[in-house]
Amino acid sequence: MPPRGGRVLALAVLRHVDDWLRSETLTTLVTMTSTHSSTSPQTGTVLITGPTGSLGREATLAMAHRPPHDRPDLILVGRPGGGLDDILAEVRATGTTAHAIGADLGHISEVRAAAARAQELVTRGTVRPLRALVANAGVTGSVSGALTTDGYERTFAVNHVAHAALIGDLLRTFTSPARIVLIGSNTYYQNIWRRILGVAPSEWKDPLELTAPESAPHDLHSAGVAYSTSKLAILYYAHELQRRAPEGVAVSVFEPGWMPSTGLAREMPAALRRVMGAIARIPGVSSPRESGPLLASVALDEKWASLRDGAFVVKTEVRDVEPFAVDRERESRLWTATAELIERVS
Ligand SMILES: NC(=O)c1ccc[n+]([C@@H]2O[C@H](COP(=O)([O-])OP(=O)(O)OC[C@H]3O[C@@H](n4cnc5c(N)ncnc54)[C@H](OP(=O)(O)O)[C@@H]3O)[C@@H](O)[C@H]2O)c1
Repeated sequence: MPPRGGRVLALAVLRHVDDWLRSETLTTLVTMTSTHSSTSPQTGTVLITGPTGSLGREATLAMAHRPPHDRPDLILVGRPGGGLDDILAEVRATGTTAHAIGADLGHISEVRAAAARAQELVTRGTVRPLRALVANAGVTGSVSGALTTDGYERTFAVNHVAHAALIGDLLRTFTSPARIVLIGSNTYYQNIWRRILGVAPSEWKDPLELTAPESAPHDLHSAGVAYSTSKLAILYYAHELQRRAPEGVAVSVFEPGWMPSTGLAREMPAALRRVMGAIARIPGVSSPRESGPLLASVALDEKWASLRDGAFVVKTEVRDVEPFAVDRERESRLWTATAELIERVS
């Protein structure tokens, strides 16, 4: 029997397999409708984080490649550098009005500066009214570089706290009706499959504890726990955000399916990445090219206009979340603790 870390590592390749199988049998393809009213997101601006990565890039391009009457203006928030410059150029080449804002989501003061810049673009009329925000950027638990510039555990800080700061600062900038789409993952709960496979479950604790340096992952298992826990936080946050958001701002959570071989796998050993690369080529396995346009659809299409209350969309299907992922006490505490974490480093 290999040691626990080895088993987790070896079996991680099968992560999400059950979801993949279920998605193949249960999902139906989205039929995109081109009918929309003058208050649809297409008539305004969409802000997306992580437009340089796999899912974010495909979602961004799917929005930009829509016909002119059906596409939004775009604000692209990502780490400054060549990747961000490239996607901006690619988007603008389609004729889309787009602006890039450089920010490291591991640094709350950069996130808040990005929010201020986005607000300025909207209020000055440089872009149309803000109608959607897609909180796509994300990281898996990292053993190396486990803390952000602010000194918080990176996975929770980037996946949840940074997006909460961005959204909090922009909440009054949205024009109703507006959509906030957060990105979740089925790893937030451990079903029988994941237990057998040794996929790390979420382990909820007080958010101040989860972000403390002592919570930084020290091996592959704790890195997996950090990721799953951050995705549970996203569900809790979605529920509380819906209660606190202005009228007309609807909150949902999108799960793209297991997309092996995206940047999320970058810290895995080379041999495992090669296996994941092979799995990624199996027909039917989710991919950014397939799930990106589905994410764009959730942000833009009339078909999804009634989503709210943190509705959990797995690719094209709305699913109930596990009972423990709805918890008024934890949701309220997460809100207060997140505000404290943001305030401490602002
Ligand atoms: N892959 C899957 O199987 C899967 C399954 C369920 C959910 N998801 C979720 O889908 C989302 C996208 O993941 P992906 O698979 O597309 O991963 P990816 O290829 O690694 O893309 C991640 C994106 O997040 C950005 N990012 C990471 N850290 C950042 C930071 N500190 N500041 C600013 N931007 C940062 C990356 O920017 P850089 O280009 O600068 O690194 C990149 O654009 C994530 O929320 C992930 O949790 C993925």
